[in-house]
Amino acid sequence: MKSLALFNNKGGVGKTTMTFNLGHMLARQGREVVLIDCDPQCNLSALALTEGELEEVFASDASMGRTVAACVERVRIGNGELYKPALLELAEHLSILPGDLTLSRFEGKLAKAWPEVFSTDAESAVFVTTAIERLAEGLAIEHDVDVVLFDVGPSLGALNRAVLLACDAVLIPLAPDLFSLRGLENVGEAMRDWKDDWGQARIRIQQAQTRTAGRRRDGRGAPREHAMEPIGYVLQQHLAREEVPLKAYSRWAEQIPAYYRRFVLGQESEPAPGQAADPHCLGHLRHFASLVPLAQAARKPIFDLKHADGVLGTQFQLVERARAEFKALAQKVLQRLDAA
Ligand SMILES: Nc1ncnc2c1ncn2[C@@H]1O[C@H](COP(=O)(O)OP(=O)(O)OP(=O)(O)O)[C@@H](O)[C@H]1O
Ligand SMILES: [Mg+2]
Repeated sequence: MKSLALFNNKGGVGKTTMTFNLGHMLARQGREVVLIDCDPQCNLSALALTEGELEEVFASDASMGRTVAACVERVRIGNGELYKPALLELAEHLSILPGDLTLSRFEGKLAKAWPEVFSTDAESAVFVTTAIERLAEGLAIEHDVDVVLFDVGPSLGALNRAVLLACDAVLIPLAPDLFSLRGLENVGEAMRDWKDDWGQARIRIQQAQTRTAGRRRDGRGAPREHAMEPIGYVLQQHLAREEVPLKAYSRWAEQIPAYYRRFVLGQESEPAPGQAADPHCLGHLRHFASLVPLAQAARKPIFDLKHADGVLGTQFQLVERARAEFKALAQKVLQRLDAA
C-alpha cells in the first residue's frame, strides 16, 4: 500500500477536487483505492456523498467507525485503540472513509501529544500521534488497498502533521500566483521539520526499546517511518482560459521550478528548467468552468459527466479533456508512487 496526500499551505488550490477525480481515475486503472477525508471541513465527503448518506453516517455510533473522527474517538478520549473503519463504496475499486467536523477535537489531542513524543516516556504520545497511520495501515491489511488518498485542509497544524507523517508521498497542487509560491516555501519547511523531528523521536523510541529488551510496554515495535516524499506538483490553470497560461500568470508559473527545487526539495543551487519542461510537474489541470458545479451536483468525477447531468454541446469536448488530463496525471502519479 502507498499513502498519498495532496497538500499545499495555500487554500482553495483544488486539493479536494483533484483528490476526488484522481481517486476515481486511479481506481479505474485497476488499483484498490480508499479516500480518507481528514479535513474537518469535510468537502471531499460532501463531493462524494449525498446529504442523506452523510446524515446517516453522522447519526451512527462512534463504535461503528463510519468516519475518521469516530475511528479515533477512543484514542482521543484515552480509553482504547482505534475503532475499525467502515468504508462506503463509491465505485468499483473505490471507497471512502468520510470526515466529520468533530475531527477538530482530535487535533487538540494531537497538538498536546507532539512535545511529549520527544520525552523519555513517549509511549502514549506516540500512540496518539500514530493513530492516523495505524488507521491507514489497518485498511491496507483488511481491504487489500493499493492506494490511500488523504484529503487535508491547508493548515500546518497538528492534524495535517499527523496525516503527512503517515504518507509515503505528497503531491502539491498549486496555482500560478504569488500566494501559491509563498505556500511552497511554508510547505517545504514544515515537511522537512516534521520529518526531522519525527526522526529524532523515533531514535529515542528505539533507544528506549533497547533498554526494555526491544519492546515498548504496549508490545509494539517502533512506529513505521513513512518517506513523506514530494513526488511533484500539479499546476492548476483555474484562471487561465487558453492553452498557454495568460501572460500575467506565466510570470508566476515560470518561477515554480526554482521555488519547488529550493523550498520543497531543499536543492538550493540546482539549475531549474522552464516550467513546461519541468519533470517535477506531473500535469496541468485546466479550468473546467461550469463542469465543476455539474460534477458536484452529480457527485461524479468531471470526466464521467453525461448529457443527463446537464452537459451540452462543446462542453463534451471539455469532459474529454478532463478525462485525458486526469488519465495522464493518474499514470504519472502511479509511476512515482511505485518508485516511492
Ligand atoms: N480544475 C478546476 N476548474 C475549475 N474550478 C475548479 C477546479 N478545481 C477546483 N475548482 C473550484 O475551486 C474551488 C476550490 O477547490 P477545492 O475545494 O478543490 O480546493 P481546496 O484546495 O481543496 O480548498 P481548501 O483549501 O479549502 O481545502 C472550488 O469551488 C472548486 O469547485
Ligand atoms: Mg479542500
